[in-house]
Amino acid sequence: MPKIVYIEADGTRKELEVEVGYTVMEGATMNGVEGVEAECGGACSCATCHVYVDEKWINKLPKKENAEEDMLDMANEPNKFSRLTCQITVTEDLDGLVVKMPSKQG
Ligand code: FES
Repeated sequence: MPKIVYIEADGTRKELEVEVGYTVMEGATMNGVEGVEAECGGACSCATCHVYVDEKWINKLPKKENAEEDMLDMANEPNKFSRLTCQITVTEDLDGLVVKMPSKQG
């Protein structure tokens, strides 16, 4: 199972195995990662699943759809490494993906 590394805002590192087909957001919420709120449940309409993707990984992810791009404008302090975790589906290729939580959501 691919391992996803979540780094919480306080620096706590959680390496979790997340089943292929789940989203990076679901991997966080199912395992009690702090800082991914996912208020809309994955519908790309809340931006509270925002993370900063490690720079080594940012270009290995599937491209953003327009809806994600638009919703990221609503996120707290987005930057060029920002993604919405509900829009990233876990695959074997993402084994080792590192994402960092922002200091707050929304
Ligand atoms: Fe709401 Fe991702 S969970 S946008």
